[in-house]
Amino acid sequence: MTYDNLLIERDGAVAVITVNRPKLLNALDSQTIDELRRAVLDLKADEAVRVVILTGSGDKAFVAGADINELAVQRPTSGKEHALGGQHVLDLIENMGKPVIAAINGYALGGGCELAMACTLRMAADSAKLGQPEIKLGIMPGYAGTQRLSRLVGKTKAMELILRGHHISAQEAYEIGLVNRVVPAAALMDEARTLAAELAGHAPIAMRYIIEAINKGLEMPFAEAAIFEATLFGLLASTEDMREGTQAFLDKRKAEFRGK
Ligand code: COA
Repeated sequence: MTYDNLLIERDGAVAVITVNRPKLLNALDSQTIDELRRAVLDLKADEAVRVVILTGSGDKAFVAGADINELAVQRPTSGKEHALGGQHVLDLIENMGKPVIAAINGYALGGGCELAMACTLRMAADSAKLGQPEIKLGIMPGYAGTQRLSRLVGKTKAMELILRGHHISAQEAYEIGLVNRVVPAAALMDEARTLAAELAGHAPIAMRYIIEAINKGLEMPFAEAAIFEATLFGLLASTEDMREGTQAFLDKRKAEFRGK
């Protein structure tokens, strides 16, 4: 597959997607959104890929939002389709069934913050800035940011961040639970690759079900979510990886998971 606005790199079981429009701080235009959709579907189907890292090119921005050149000319029907198109791609990322690590190397604003929130885990450079500044453009988040942000950091902080539209530091994002970890900017990609390598050694089907149980379960009543969890747990008992993981423990050796 060829892409104009993404770089895709594969290193064993880890794939790195880099949004590559550095002159516009990696802003997401419709073409880039569509390329992300294709890349995610491609990597999802590729059994050799167990973990994905998503980052932005250059040292200034992860993604500085939806492309404002395109937003400026939206009309009601196209605006709705634009938002739904972005939401669809973020849903694909969130439910890819493989961990997607956002390596937030700079500004993650608007659609960029929404993109990071759709990822499974978020690691931020200490220089990164995050926020939902749409209010300053007279609009609001459209890639489900009102929903993901309030679920991640709670209603109190989400209301303030979205209504005020100010940027917060990586450290503040960590303190409110928006990112998992803050690392020195120069170490970001190494740290992301180390985490990716750790996850790539885990049983892929178990990771897929954990992601599904948390993502889908959070939207269900507790009792139903617990039954859903038990069903997935039961399904894992049918995998070769479950036999391998438990037997390796008993044999006092390292498990080799094959995703079967
Ligand atoms: N869409 C389109 N272009 C964007 C963009 C976006 N979301 N974010 C930045 N750019 C462009 C700028 O227009 C500028 O283009 P130019 O060189 O042709 O003038 C280029 O990227 C560099 O940005 P600039 O604003 O000059 O950098 P800065 O360091 O002064 O400021 C930001 C950086 C991120 C604070 C600022 O670019 C910004 O506020 N961007 C918009 C963020 C936003 O509102 N996102 C939500 C969109 S829904």
